[in-house]
Amino acid sequence: MNTIAKIQDEIIRLKKEKDICILAHSYQAREILEVADFTGDSYKLSVDASKAPNQNIVMSGVRFMAETCKILSPEKHVYLPNPDAGCSMADQMDRQLISQVKKQYPDHTVVAYINTTAELKTICDVCVTSSSAVDICKKIENDKILFIPDCNLGDFVLKQIPEKEFKLLSGGCPIHACVNKDDVKKARSLYPDALLLVHPECTPEVCSQADYVGSTSGIMQYAINSENKEFIIGTEISIQEHLQYMCPDKTFHYLTNKLICPNMRTTTLVDLYNCIKGEGGEEILLDDETIRDAKKCIDEMIRLGN
Ligand code: 13P
Ligand code: SF4
Repeated sequence: MNTIAKIQDEIIRLKKEKDICILAHSYQAREILEVADFTGDSYKLSVDASKAPNQNIVMSGVRFMAETCKILSPEKHVYLPNPDAGCSMADQMDRQLISQVKKQYPDHTVVAYINTTAELKTICDVCVTSSSAVDICKKIENDKILFIPDCNLGDFVLKQIPEKEFKLLSGGCPIHACVNKDDVKKARSLYPDALLLVHPECTPEVCSQADYVGSTSGIMQYAINSENKEFIIGTEISIQEHLQYMCPDKTFHYLTNKLICPNMRTTTLVDLYNCIKGEGGEEILLDDETIRDAKKCIDEMIRLGN
């Protein structure tokens, strides 16, 4: 048995012994996904986390995802295996800035992408994820929406709901925002038979040229179910790797090698192992007031998303 398999076996043994549920975002490495109880996009993970019966949750992903787990299950112990795993987008806008912006748009409903800190969520009305944003924004009664922080996701949503008025701010994911129309042109000319599947954190010029725009899970499902045999994947490179492993009869290319999220790659199998042993990682601790106020907009997301 190789070292990775030995560590995986130990993780599986310890998680049962210690009543731990492991959640892993789709961007995590395959050896981590293989030992997880639940995998998927941010929306699926937040719902799975709220239903997990275990007393301890380890969230292998980035900090805002672990915070979301804690907000939904305050009575549980929630851990982030590597404390350095942040999200560049979630750290872009804080409570002070958005409080000021809200004053300029007092009649707007504040819709926060789930890639935000727990602290910022406390002053927002409803959360969305990339897979639920269009549906939830349609269901919101108010026709005026202040969408934060990702203007690319916001633009993708507003184009599908022209009857509503959106105010966007200039935030977003620096990794997805780096992709440009020249990257699309190059990939299309190299792989003319491939379908282009991209994440809505990409810019409007990239999304407008895609055959499908959706969340990490949405992209994976689309590729798995498609009759097509070749795909260009416009999100973190791990998704191209996972798909190639899962569908060996199809061919997957990445849109550009710029699509690497250092935050998501920070967490290793050894970090997860150490965390489960109680020798590493960080327990997520949030005060009662933050949990109470941030929970309102996550509950609203789950209510409207059903
Ligand atoms: P998903 O909601 O599609 O999982 O996206 C999370 C994310 O951070 C993408 O960059
Ligand atoms: Fe955050 Fe972008 Fe990484 Fe997603 S890809 S976790 S939005 S920095």
